[in-house]
Amino acid sequence: MSFDPFNELGGGSALRLDDGQQDDYCLPVASHSPETERLDYIHDVYKYHAGNIPAEVAAFLNNGARREILDVGCGTGKWALEMIEAYPNIIVTGVDLAHPPITVFPENFKFEIHDVTKGQEYADNTFDVVHVRDIHAGMPDYHTMLTECVRVLRPSGYLLVKEIEWIPRLPNGGNAEERFPAICQESFRDALIERSLDPMVGIHLAEYINNVSGLCDIKHTRHMVPMTPWSDDPILKYTGRMTQLAMSILGGTIRIMLLDHGESDPDGRYAAGIEELKDLSGEPIWFFGSVIARKQGELGDPSEFQDQDQDQMEERQEDEG
Ligand SMILES: C[S@@+](CC[C@H](N)C(=O)[O-])C[C@H]1O[C@@H](n2cnc3c(N)ncnc32)[C@H](O)[C@@H]1O
Repeated sequence: MSFDPFNELGGGSALRLDDGQQDDYCLPVASHSPETERLDYIHDVYKYHAGNIPAEVAAFLNNGARREILDVGCGTGKWALEMIEAYPNIIVTGVDLAHPPITVFPENFKFEIHDVTKGQEYADNTFDVVHVRDIHAGMPDYHTMLTECVRVLRPSGYLLVKEIEWIPRLPNGGNAEERFPAICQESFRDALIERSLDPMVGIHLAEYINNVSGLCDIKHTRHMVPMTPWSDDPILKYTGRMTQLAMSILGGTIRIMLLDHGESDPDGRYAAGIEELKDLSGEPIWFFGSVIARKQGELGDPSEFQDQDQDQMEERQEDEG
């Protein structure tokens, strides 16, 4: 029997009963419409504000060498597919709790179902780039998740992280809560906290990254995004429109979590929020944080790491039996 994560409670875990598996991620799977569309709108926002990758990483991928990339919580797979198209010499491995909505995978896009709260399944020093975007709603221990990402990175490889700041704001620093009371819902952040998740990962991203050992050359940027198409700037207008569309879906995405949390009328509150966003004069904005960092150490000959992997595998086999 198919399960509708937008309208049904999924047993102990609020939303997730997909393909017979149950887990603690609190939003619907990326392959469920309209969650797919919401994630793809937000993908465009990230891309137009920060690019799929920073220029430094683009230069690294353009040097002709075969490069291995891990996309942690790859969602719809849109980022991975665009990367493969732009850089045909790369291999992207996407991991997620559920399949992306892709029927035919290009040969250089590998996908694996894996719960990354249990750590990464890969050997140390496996990937040249590890990409993490907007997965905090599934990570009760964001620090350990990052530590695992650094472990599987090759020395001098790149860690790329982006996370949303869940607090709407006004550009002039005015009180967004007074102007947009329905959009500024505390209860959503409280519901995440109730599930041992940190809604402030985006706001504290620099701190999270600084606390992971083994990284260097850390650069953190905050990007400002309009929540509606109020700007005359063509890019800001577009990303404002994408955000407004994503917001029109977000109410459905989080409703079961809010019901679980004890909110009596999440639909009514959200509908009021959507109405608020129709008034472009308020100029609401949101931010996301973006980090590029490198793993300490020199980039060696990849065959060195293959030897290391072999040694590690042999050691594990010996330990097991
Ligand atoms: C908000 S979506 C973002 C998807 C994609 N990274 C993007 O930026 O478009 C979060 C993704 O993280 C995945 N996720 C959440 N918890 C996870 C876990 N424990 N292990 C693996 N993937 C997880 C979800 O299934 C979902 O696809």
